[in-house]
Amino acid sequence: MNTIRKINRISKSVPAIEGAGVRLKRAFGHDDVPLLDPFLLLDDFHSDDPDDYIQGFPWHPHRGIETITYVLYGDVKHGDSMGNKGDITSGDVQWMTAGSGIVHQEMPKGTSEGLMWGFQLWANLPASQKMINPRYRDVTKDTIPEITLDNGVKVKIIAGEVIGTKGPVRDIVIDPEYLDVTVPPETSFSHDTKKGHTVFAYSVDGYAYFDSQKGKLVDKENLVIYEDGDSVHITTVDEPVRFLLISGKPLKEPVAWYGPIVMNTQEELKKAFDEYRSGTFIK
Ligand code: FE2
Repeated sequence: MNTIRKINRISKSVPAIEGAGVRLKRAFGHDDVPLLDPFLLLDDFHSDDPDDYIQGFPWHPHRGIETITYVLYGDVKHGDSMGNKGDITSGDVQWMTAGSGIVHQEMPKGTSEGLMWGFQLWANLPASQKMINPRYRDVTKDTIPEITLDNGVKVKIIAGEVIGTKGPVRDIVIDPEYLDVTVPPETSFSHDTKKGHTVFAYSVDGYAYFDSQKGKLVDKENLVIYEDGDSVHITTVDEPVRFLLISGKPLKEPVAWYGPIVMNTQEELKKAFDEYRSGTFIK
């Protein structure tokens, strides 16, 4: 029997200041561990005022996690201490596996109208992969398939699979799905999800019912966390809705998290910061 997932929690993203003074909205983070395991954090950057984002995220380290940056509008200039650099531009995704460690900076730069809009998701790595070599997957807009279903629903597939079409991001241990879905008015979208996986939606624009009971209309900038089950069911009313639909396999491991580094134990965390201070962080 196919069980449609019920909603566990709906919560509005909250204003936060990060980096060198970037004003963003946080959908979930440190206080929510382990509810969204294997995911740690989701930030929504959306502003047409460059003062909100231009200071960016100067040099900082990461270890033990993956950071997944999805840009809708604007550019993020990225550079790391190994000399890698590039622009993550409108429609692109950077799936960065920090592994044993990278030191990088991420500097948002809006469109010519000053608009910056994007998301950064943090996914945890299991103990067995926290110290692997860093890896980048630069996923450009043209490599992300967009399919249109019979009822007009449009799905951009960054990771995962929708009716036989697979996204470009594969071979990730948490078996993630990352979809950007737009549902026209008065339309339903059903999508199968793996049993036991953590599934959440983040509404980007418009509003809809995110459960089959149609309990509550969910407005933009809200996080919908699902209970376990086999599928999700979203229904619009008089307006379209756009949302991110993300899932992954929980790691069920202890989380020791401080700032941009997430390990399993306090000892590992202390070692990481000691190494960062003494210049031996990069392996
Ligand atoms: Fe970062």
